[in-house]
Amino acid sequence: MEAALDLSVISPKSQKAADFFRDLVSEILPDLLGHVEGVSNQDRADRVKQALQNISRTYRCKLGNTDTWSRSEWDNAANRCAYVFLYYMHHCHMVYVALQPLLEKSLSHVVQRWRQMKYLQVCCIGGGPGPDLVGLTKFLRDTDVVPVGMLKCSVIDAFPSWKTTWDAIREKLPDPFPVNYFRCDLVRDTAIEPDVLDIIRRVDLVTLVKCFSAVAAFMRDDPRRSSVFQAILRELKPGAVVLYIDNEKNQETWQCFSEITRMAGLDVLHEWHGKPVIPSGEDSAIIQNYSSALELRPMQSCVVSVVLLRKNRPTLSLVRTTDPNKPAVVTHPGVPSRNPYLETRLFNQPDTNAMHVNGHLQVEWPYRKLSKQQQQSTGIYAGGDNIIVNGLPSQK
Ligand SMILES: C[S@@+](CC[C@H](N)C(=O)[O-])C[C@H]1O[C@@H](n2cnc3c(N)ncnc32)[C@H](O)[C@@H]1O
Repeated sequence: MEAALDLSVISPKSQKAADFFRDLVSEILPDLLGHVEGVSNQDRADRVKQALQNISRTYRCKLGNTDTWSRSEWDNAANRCAYVFLYYMHHCHMVYVALQPLLEKSLSHVVQRWRQMKYLQVCCIGGGPGPDLVGLTKFLRDTDVVPVGMLKCSVIDAFPSWKTTWDAIREKLPDPFPVNYFRCDLVRDTAIEPDVLDIIRRVDLVTLVKCFSAVAAFMRDDPRRSSVFQAILRELKPGAVVLYIDNEKNQETWQCFSEITRMAGLDVLHEWHGKPVIPSGEDSAIIQNYSSALELRPMQSCVVSVVLLRKNRPTLSLVRTTDPNKPAVVTHPGVPSRNPYLETRLFNQPDTNAMHVNGHLQVEWPYRKLSKQQQQSTGIYAGGDNIIVNGLPSQK
């Protein structure tokens, strides 16, 4: 592997990108303030100020907890406005710099693959108001990796009300591209809606920006709550790339993420740990006014891990579908399945190639010869190198 690119180095392009993000936030803040309930602008600003205090307190000290306020309430417009003011520029810029390694020779295979596609399907998990997409599209415009018009984007989030914020932001962007929002709660749901599953199975680039830390504590307290997240990563097709950016400080969170990605057949392409700083520039009058009214400045830097991963192997699916139009039920990897043979032979062998194809679990099975008795008890029937299992238990 080449030496990791230092993502904290500020180039003229990243300086210009920062100015672009700064201008964008200046333009959208008045619209977002307009979404906040209140009898006057002062009243609305007071609500945003209160929201800012709660959010910054939450993110500073309580993200590791699972009590109610450790999870901000994004259905509230004041909270959403406060979030955009505080984090949006910095998050857009982090994504912009985090994608720079794709321009390195060692990762040119990723770009070459994308260039052969008709569309580039992007999914932001926990994407909220979409700084992932703004950072990505600025990167694409600046580098000509692929045209922005090639993107088909989805945001999967527990709070689809972020779409209202995105709709205001989208209007200020130079070129339109389709973005759909879908609800999925990574730690409370036990099934995945068919439209979400469909997106996950097609996606070429997944962004996970400051999302895993919002859910990791729930997974740590109860490992079953990681099942949906694990199931999602296992459904990714080989070749899919994942961009992970999150707070670096918590070793436990990182270990949990690494273990899940390993089991999901993802390998690290590029890894960097450090403190990206948004290049300084002149704050617009709007940002200055907001900063003095809200008594806080937008975030400029934070210590993070930036990791690009690639799905290299298809992996055993954790979802069960009996009807493709109904939610797919997620199985926790540790829970005994209805098929004990599959459970012991497949779930414990992450390297066994298996994937759902049109609702069928298709397994590349290292042991080609199963006895008749094994075939009957497992429902697995060998067919050449592949074994097709129609659901669990299976019929051929
Ligand atoms: C810190 S924000 C990151 C948003 C965006 N990616 C960014 O970089 O600004 C965390 C996001 O995770 C979402 N989120 C929180 N808990 C979630 C859960 N249980 N399932 C899915 N999304 C969740 C929030 O709604 C929010 O959009």
